[in-house]
Amino acid sequence: MIMAIETVALDDLNSQLVLIDQTQLPGKVEILYLSTQEEIREAIYLLKVRGAPAIGVAAAFGVYLAAKSIQTDEYDAFLREYQKCSKYLEAARPTAVNLAWALHRMEQVVLSNADYSVAEIKALLLKECTAIKDEDTDMCRRIGEHGLSVLKDGYGILTHCNAGQLATSKYGTALAPIHLGRERGMNFRVFTDETRPLLQGARLSAFELVEDGVDTTLICDNMASQVMKNGWVNAVFVGCDRVAANGDACNKIGTSGVAILAKHYGIPFYVLGPTSTIDLNTPTGDDIVIEQRPAEEVTEMWYEKRMAPEGVKVYNPAFDVTDHELITGIITEHGIAHPPYTESLKALFEKK
Ligand code: MRU
Repeated sequence: MIMAIETVALDDLNSQLVLIDQTQLPGKVEILYLSTQEEIREAIYLLKVRGAPAIGVAAAFGVYLAAKSIQTDEYDAFLREYQKCSKYLEAARPTAVNLAWALHRMEQVVLSNADYSVAEIKALLLKECTAIKDEDTDMCRRIGEHGLSVLKDGYGILTHCNAGQLATSKYGTALAPIHLGRERGMNFRVFTDETRPLLQGARLSAFELVEDGVDTTLICDNMASQVMKNGWVNAVFVGCDRVAANGDACNKIGTSGVAILAKHYGIPFYVLGPTSTIDLNTPTGDDIVIEQRPAEEVTEMWYEKRMAPEGVKVYNPAFDVTDHELITGIITEHGIAHPPYTESLKALFEKK
């Protein structure tokens, strides 16, 4: 069964953001109760909550909690303070568009209801952040349905990073078809890349897939080619943090290498994500800001002792961009976009 614990929740009564601390998984299931903006921003930056849709939901709840604590009845003063909090949260991570998307959607509520009282605006903000989460669950389920349409029972699927339930409010994106398939008695054989340096594949995808009773094999990132050569992979399913208008898809570092391998072995490579992750204002992958993370994540995090000499230079980009030419299809809640993406992605938004 899919995990009962929620990735992100709001405890409005106690004014707290409730998270499962993903840095502690799989060893410990620890629930965090966060109230201050500093705690919430830090939880996003440190990947206690992570995955594009989940950080969008967390930020929406976070900015609502900030709004709730603003002590003024005067609209202009409220708006000034609100925008300060929103910008503060938005700066936590630059690449996943869902963070800015959710905060922008929340800010629209404040801007378009200037004639309402501050108390009424706060109530509307509560409605909006709750809707963002509920819609996310619904979108993931629909992505799962579309994803299932390209799979057959017994397929081998390779995935990278974690685009599962832990990265969203339920089901996930890349893992949604697998969880949904399980609900319907289907069996898949999933290979999950460990995903250096933060091990989202080993710690999170492996954890949630095993919990769901899925036949799961963990591999180091450099084993994907061998696994594909063995003929064990029928399709690659990955998530995304921002998809540009031409279909270039930014996702966890290492994804583009998997796509190149898949092309070599003739394996279909699918990117799965909600339309909130498609950014038509970003023309190509070259226009996406790639987050750089601290060197310690590569040299010592997860090791008992440091594994690299002091003074060595470290390059630690958190994401890379997969060229649209390597992508078989982009699976969204509104259906599957196929090349040429410049047209098919635009058409998806028109359908929306
Ligand atoms: O750095 P992370 O763990 O937030 O990166 C997450 C990913 O790259 C996911 O694949 C992506 O956000 C899609 S989650 C449905």
